[in-house]
Amino acid sequence: MRLTKTVGDYYLGSGALKNLDTLLKPLQETNNTGKVAYLIDHYFLKSDLKDKLPIRENDILYFIDTTDEPTTEQVDKIAEEFQREGEIIAAVGIGGGSTLDITKAIANLIPNGAKAEDYQGWDLVPGPGIFKIGIPTISGTGAEGSRTCVLMNHAKKLKLGHNSDYTVYNRLIMDPDLTASVPKDQYFYTGMDTFIHCIESLEGRYRHSFADALSDAALSLSRKIFLSDDMQSKENRESLMVASFMGGSAIGNSFVGVVHPFSAGLSMVLGLHHCIGNCIVMNVMDQFYPSQTQEFHRMLEKQSIKLPTGLCANLTDKQHQNLYDATIVHEKPLMNALGDDFKKTLTPSTVRRIFERM
Ligand SMILES: [Fe+2]
Repeated sequence: MRLTKTVGDYYLGSGALKNLDTLLKPLQETNNTGKVAYLIDHYFLKSDLKDKLPIRENDILYFIDTTDEPTTEQVDKIAEEFQREGEIIAAVGIGGGSTLDITKAIANLIPNGAKAEDYQGWDLVPGPGIFKIGIPTISGTGAEGSRTCVLMNHAKKLKLGHNSDYTVYNRLIMDPDLTASVPKDQYFYTGMDTFIHCIESLEGRYRHSFADALSDAALSLSRKIFLSDDMQSKENRESLMVASFMGGSAIGNSFVGVVHPFSAGLSMVLGLHHCIGNCIVMNVMDQFYPSQTQEFHRMLEKQSIKLPTGLCANLTDKQHQNLYDATIVHEKPLMNALGDDFKKTLTPSTVRRIFERM
């Protein structure tokens, strides 16, 4: 049995961002010369968001390019730059799943050293990272609540996080005002990550009663939000923040299933982003999650979301082999969903047929 780890301290609600100062002050009073590193999604480069932050003269302001999924090389480069800045007392990640994950990885690397890839796996981070605060600006990935930070390692053809209790945020600020400008499609794709985490967790063999309760609650919120007339109403945006946090906390203490490994294959081989990749996979999951796939189709229809199609229709045999390899490598979730003999169910030809429907 493992000690259950979740984020214990958070501000939630409209206007919560103004409490960032309160969270940073005790650290700054203890170490007046230490810097705070703000890692912000480049989406906010031209917005007035930075004017709302308690940034001091010596603090570090770093805009993260989230065009592609986060990589180990990207994290190593930022960590090296930050190491040259002197003592950093806190990292504040402001953005979506990519920014929140990069912030967690940087916070692990700064005091512990090593390269980002050295901690890809389970419980490899040797000690606590620097104090970190997560501020999501889009809801669904659960990165704010999870104990991982997913990174692409292109050299090793691997998509894997620092799965560690040390990766969990120390504090969160969940302010639904920050998700008001999210484009509709992106809002849906990202929100669906929570729905998918929860169904994968609940349908898996591994059971954790607290994770189950969180998943049940997050699922019921997701259903309410994505079957409503205005999924982006103020009330729904706050509910989705809660669902995302609960889904991330649940998955930190359980496992995903079939959808995430296939989605990781799409990211690795075709460069798709995590959340749209999940939706493209979920659309054809009737063999493994029949009722939930139907439910997903109803949500797509209700919100008038059109998914791209024909993605894998004309791939080469080599690309299909790469897709198979990048999917099947995720043994823990696949064993959780299909049992130890998962490769008997997911043969190369079965996997190819599933991808060809996307
Ligand atoms: Fe996910």
